[in-house]
Amino acid sequence: MLRVIILGAAAGGGLPQWNCACPVCQAAREGSRVSPQTQSSIAVSADGAHWVLINASPDIRQQFASTPALQPKHYPRSSPLSAVVLTNADVDHTAGLLSLRESQAFPVYATRRVQRMLAGNAIFNVLNQELVARRQLVLDTPQAVLDANGRDTGVRVEAFTIPGKVALWLEDLGAANFGSVPEDTIGLALSAEGSHSRLFYLPGCAALPDDIKARLAPQDSLLFDGTTFTEDEMIACGVGHKTASRMGHLPMSGEGGAIALWQDVPLQRKLFIHINNTNPVLLADSPERAFIDAAGWQLARDGMEFCVE
Ligand code: MLT
Ligand code: MN
Ligand code: ZN
Repeated sequence: MLRVIILGAAAGGGLPQWNCACPVCQAAREGSRVSPQTQSSIAVSADGAHWVLINASPDIRQQFASTPALQPKHYPRSSPLSAVVLTNADVDHTAGLLSLRESQAFPVYATRRVQRMLAGNAIFNVLNQELVARRQLVLDTPQAVLDANGRDTGVRVEAFTIPGKVALWLEDLGAANFGSVPEDTIGLALSAEGSHSRLFYLPGCAALPDDIKARLAPQDSLLFDGTTFTEDEMIACGVGHKTASRMGHLPMSGEGGAIALWQDVPLQRKLFIHINNTNPVLLADSPERAFIDAAGWQLARDGMEFCVE
């Protein structure tokens, strides 16, 4: 059985976003109809004692502070954190690494491409590489997640490339798809050793080809990119000029949206995560929320926990 904790359900910038006065951010500030949410990250464990962090959010300090399972149990220093796995190099998924200094040993798993980004940015050397090993994710093969000492955490991960975009801060404006290559964005199939059901984690995904859908079986659970409800939501809200696809995300609604594309895939549960501050589904009483409810989708929220049997 894999235990799952949603540490952060929001997209980059969180909810509310520091300089945004859109209706959803204002509702979050007032604490009415929606609670504030931190930037996307989850933790998974096969034994409840050793935890694997999937993506390191800029809000990691607050997330660990509000999650007893991730807090030290043994004097003077210790951590239930056994390893970190990255799905891309986005700032909302990597900046939290900088807060994991203080001489703790854990490995960071990522694709070769994302590892090259970490290696190319000296600031990540705040993580002493004698303690924090950088390990390469194998693609398309289930792999045991090992802690810093090579002990098996019991968590299995299978990484696979999915349509996406290079991190915003690494975009090459002169190149096709901003210089993105397949290993920039991956999805993960996570499970506990010996268990048959898996959690698919795809917090950023730009398209949904059939071969991705074919990976999932009815007993599996899905946490999927829920950045925006509509393709032009940020433009319509007046808070930005980019469409969902320009940012490497699939909107929830519409003919080519996530709800329509996942409709024919039976699953144990379907949740949206990485939800942008502008997304009206965040408001509990909105018609958009009613729409995703009726379609059988849940919204991840900070502090939510579930098990994948
Ligand atoms: C995204 O998911 O599109 C990025 O996190 C955007 C960003 O870097 O702010
Ligand atoms: Mn993001
Ligand atoms: Zn806002």
